[in-house]
Parts: sequence; structure tokens; C-alpha cells
Amino acid sequence: METTEITELVDSARLFSGFSSAEEKLLEEVGPEVIPHLSRVTDEFYKALSVVPKAQQFLDGRTEKLKTTHTNWLEYVFRGPYDDKYAAAMYEVGHVHFQVKLPLEFMEGGMTLILGALTPVIAESCGDDMQRFTRILCAINAALGFSLIIMQKSYQLSTLEGELDNFLQVTGMSRKLFDKLSQTNL
Ligand code: HEM
Repeated sequence: METTEITELVDSARLFSGFSSAEEKLLEEVGPEVIPHLSRVTDEFYKALSVVPKAQQFLDGRTEKLKTTHTNWLEYVFRGPYDDKYAAAMYEVGHVHFQVKLPLEFMEGGMTLILGALTPVIAESCGDDMQRFTRILCAINAALGFSLIIMQKSYQLSTLEGELDNFLQVTGMSRKLFDKLSQTNL
């Protein structure tokens, strides 16, 4: 993906997820409090995945490695920065999941489980301060939504590329001719 396309994607993902610099700042602020509990969040996440029959083929034999990768990513969520470099990395993470043929709905399900596992940790840290709890939870929701939109875009473009490759193979059409035809106003 070109740098300008990444920037465009980031701008649109920020708007759709409601992820602005205020949410970013809040996550960084609560990071030192939350980060020590993230391995517990990861354990909860993999516990929830362990009862999803279709998920097992993606987890067998690599759960421990995935747990480490996952905790590292979660730590990043509470550190930032959420710049174009992070977006490009999430785009690549989306592509890795596409390559292992993880169904797209696993990404959405995954983010939902992660938010569910983070909620009690935030609740513990906020005590009776419901206003703070709500603000932090909204910021986390925005950050996860932002990351999900980028991963989904990667899936979408990889799927289109794959379908186009099949079409070119079946028809024998060259990519050059396809590009030329698709730019012609018929
Ligand atoms: C939705 C939130 C998720 C996030 C943020 C996430 C994050 C990551 C990251 C950072 C990587 C490493 C990518 C790389 O090698 O560059 C990865 C790889 C992987 N993830 Fe996820 N993941 C998510 C959900 C899932 C789910 C739900 C499953 C399976 C049920 C899964 C299975 C895998 C597998 C199989 C790999 C490849 C590991 C390998 O290289 O052997 N992920 N994930």
C-alpha cells in the first residue's frame, strides 16, 4: 500500500472509530496501570477462543507463541503512537491473518472478546469513578475499532487481488490489458 493510501485509510478509520488524539492521550495515561494486567487479558482471550471449534486449527501447537505476540500488541495499544507506521503494521497483521486463511469474522469476534476481557481490568482500576471508567472504555473501543478497520481493509484488498489473479489466469488476459480496460469509460 502506498504511503498516501495509508494516510487516507488512517484518516477514515479515525473518523469511523471516533479515535482522536484525546483517546490516544488517555490510553497512554492509563497504560502504566493497565499494562501489568495484560497477560491476564490475553489468557482470558485464549480461554474464550478455546471453546470456538473453528478456531482450534489456527491455535493448535502455537498458542504460547500467539499469547506472547498478542500481549506485545496489546501493550502497544496502551503505549502508541498511533501513527502511519502503526497503521502499516496493522495492515500487515491483517495480511498475515488473511494468508493463514483466518475467516474475516474472527477478526471482529477477536476484538469483541478482547474488549470483554479488558473491561473488568478497567473496572478494577476505576473503582466507583464511573465517569473515568466510561471514558477509558470508550477510548479502548475506539482504538480497537481503528485497528480492526485497518485489518479489514487489508483482507478486502487481498481478497480482490486474489480474485483478479484467478480471473486473469482463467481468461489469459494480461494485467496490463486489464488495467487499461478498467480505466476506459465504456
Ligand atoms: C482480532 C484481534 C487480533 C489481533 C490484534 C491479532 C494480532 C496478531 C499479530 C500481531 C500477529 C503477528 C503477525 C506477524 O507475524 O507479523 C498475529 C498472528 C496470528 N494470529 Fe492473530 N490477532 C487477532 C486475532 C486472532 C484470532 C481470533 C486468531 C485465531 C483464532 C488468530 C490467529 C493468528 C495466527 C494463526 C497468526 C499467525 C501466527 C504464525 O505466524 O504462526 N489471531 N496475530
